[in-house]
Amino acid sequence: MTRTDAIRLHLNDPHVRGRAYDEPQTRVLSRATRSAARQVIARWQDYAPTPLVDLPGLASRLGIGGLRIKYEGHRFRLGSFKALGGAYGVLRVLSRETGRTMDDIMAGRARNAVAGVTVCCATDGNHGRAVAWGAGLAGARCVIYLHDHVSQGREDAIAAYGADIMRVKGTYDDSVLKAAEDAGSRGWIVLSDTSWPGYEDIPSWVMQGYTVLTDEAMEQMAGRRPSHVFIQAGVGVLAAAVAGPMWEEWGSARPLTVVVEPHEADCVYQSAVHGRPTEGTGSLDTVMACLSAGTMSPLAWDILECGADAFITVADRYSPQAMVMLANDADVPLVAGESGAAGLAGLLASLQESDVGQALGLDRECDVLLVASEGATDPEIYTRIVGRRPEDVSSG
Ligand SMILES: Cc1ncc(COP(=O)(O)O)c(C=O)c1O
Repeated sequence: MTRTDAIRLHLNDPHVRGRAYDEPQTRVLSRATRSAARQVIARWQDYAPTPLVDLPGLASRLGIGGLRIKYEGHRFRLGSFKALGGAYGVLRVLSRETGRTMDDIMAGRARNAVAGVTVCCATDGNHGRAVAWGAGLAGARCVIYLHDHVSQGREDAIAAYGADIMRVKGTYDDSVLKAAEDAGSRGWIVLSDTSWPGYEDIPSWVMQGYTVLTDEAMEQMAGRRPSHVFIQAGVGVLAAAVAGPMWEEWGSARPLTVVVEPHEADCVYQSAVHGRPTEGTGSLDTVMACLSAGTMSPLAWDILECGADAFITVADRYSPQAMVMLANDADVPLVAGESGAAGLAGLLASLQESDVGQALGLDRECDVLLVASEGATDPEIYTRIVGRRPEDVSSG
């Protein structure tokens, strides 16, 4: 384990890399669940695979062999990959509750049937936006719980899809509790991205929705498999949705997978250190607002426990640095928000601390895959950090 002001590194036991993709992983994600999610999502209006952007110039400036970024900033015009999971989860729930098909519900042909269903969730911003979007298209009522640190810009974006907003004092975890409490007393359905004992179907569907981006990326990478993936984590569901399919398809020939979190929101890192889902130790106060989670998803742990090779936490300063680099120094300018740029933040911190770079095998030969998981989901914050408005930085 390495620990500096810039970065902490925990390496997974190298033996787990050879494990077969089996129970309990296939219970959550399998070729069949991925294909089912993709078939449904590919029929949504405006579906198109997001770009995989090749950045050879930036790679060479960073001293690595290759760098590609799966860019999610334009996903369904919602600004993040979350559209895939949140809305897919809503559809699966509404279909279960009403007996109507997901196609009918998404096209707004089952509005009367779904009108009596209320879905709710807590969010740092992007998940709530995706749930509100899905519920809005279907015609279901939606209530979104926001904690103190969620910006007004993110609240406005959610409210624009017709959701009712509830503000909750405290952290993300406080808002999760409040949403669950209200749902229990009012007969609403919680649409959480994270799981807990006895609550697994819905978070599995959310994770399955995210795998669409991984399947697209694996096709887009065709004959050139990356050597490394740096993937950011809040509760860890995105990281699991990226690591799982690569493990299932490529086995031990999969890329070395590095899970990246902010120092102050380190629940996945702490889980890796303790060998089981564990609460984080940080204050949860981080510029990477959407990664601010105190407890990781147990379902994500089932995949990351063996599917990830390294867990790092990085100082907040690397995220703005990564955002500016993507806007100004990338071969193709990319607009990535504070959490969207976190994978690059992890790569930068690892390269800067040479013993970490060495431990991870980062050299002139390596070929890194990142996921820019969001665009400028809060344009005001983006402009403050990058010094230009998102629309003045062309993207993707
Ligand atoms: C833009 C962005 N990136 C990454 C994440 C992390 O995803 P997860 O919480 O599944 O780890 C989130 C979560 O909200 C997010 O909004």
